[in-house]
Amino acid sequence: MKTFRIDQRPRRNRQTASIRSMVRENRLHPSDFILPLFVVDGQEKQIPIESMPDCFRLSPDLVIKECQKAYQLGIPAVALFPSLPASLKDKAASESINPEGLLQRTISQIKSKVPEITVITDVAMDPYSIDGHDGLVQDSVILNDETLEILVNMAVSQAAAGADIIAPSDMMDARVGAIRQGLDQHDYTHVGILAYSAKYASAFYGPFRDALNSEPRSGDKKTYQMDPANRREAIREILLDVDQGADMVMVKPAIIYLDVIAEIKSKINVPVAAYNVSGEYAMIKSAAKLGWLDGQAAMVEMLTAIKRSGADIILTYFAKEMAELC
Ligand code: PBG
Repeated sequence: MKTFRIDQRPRRNRQTASIRSMVRENRLHPSDFILPLFVVDGQEKQIPIESMPDCFRLSPDLVIKECQKAYQLGIPAVALFPSLPASLKDKAASESINPEGLLQRTISQIKSKVPEITVITDVAMDPYSIDGHDGLVQDSVILNDETLEILVNMAVSQAAAGADIIAPSDMMDARVGAIRQGLDQHDYTHVGILAYSAKYASAFYGPFRDALNSEPRSGDKKTYQMDPANRREAIREILLDVDQGADMVMVKPAIIYLDVIAEIKSKINVPVAAYNVSGEYAMIKSAAKLGWLDGQAAMVEMLTAIKRSGADIILTYFAKEMAELC
């Protein structure tokens, strides 16, 4: 064998599991995660979501149990998404401000039974809208300014029910400032805002829309959600939201936008969340089911990559499964 002079041997730092653990740069911890939960009305209901294996639409009593389990695992927060029957949907998303609505009842039950867990609620019209859009639709146009009041009322109603953090996911212009004003005027100055600031018009939301039956009835979301080709625009959106009072910002989806997460992290000083969305979850779960991937190893690698990119908080349907391994 011919011998070569070798000065640098990075493999020394990889030779045993204990050395690798010493030099590991990023570690996942249960407190990194937010668990998204789908809520359906009723009692003891656990309805599977076909395109999201191991995820369910849960009735409020089972949501409570899920919150207890999550909190015991060290997961600090849940994000709630109500799944409503078509009979409760209309053009103006009126059900979203019903103080006795499914979401409001679920929030207050969680707050009374599992008060330690942080409850995050989504602000957007789509789960309540017959048009399946995040804003008000008139003649196929999504109206920005007319939507703001609806979003503000929705946020105030969620805060009144006990939500700790309001998460606008609608991508209307100026909604973060409007919601902040609305919350403050109603004395909810302590309620935070996690803004879905850089939310892309992504094909990876498909399984989520199956779960809520919230697919847009016509058109797509490209006039408000961002073009996947753009990165500078994400910075613009994030800076606007921080300026309007966002306490935390989000990039969504996560694994196919790691460059955006890294760039945002270097530019701002509020916590950065990343949403590991339904399609990203479904890809791994389905490949694992077919035996094409080691599902657990792929999950750990994917979530670690999101953290490595700079995310402080990760919303993921894997939260419980991952927290059990941490
Ligand atoms: C709705 C909303 C969506 C998601 C979170 N909030 C879907 C959409 O914008 O169409 C997607 C989450 C996921 O895919 O896991 N405003």
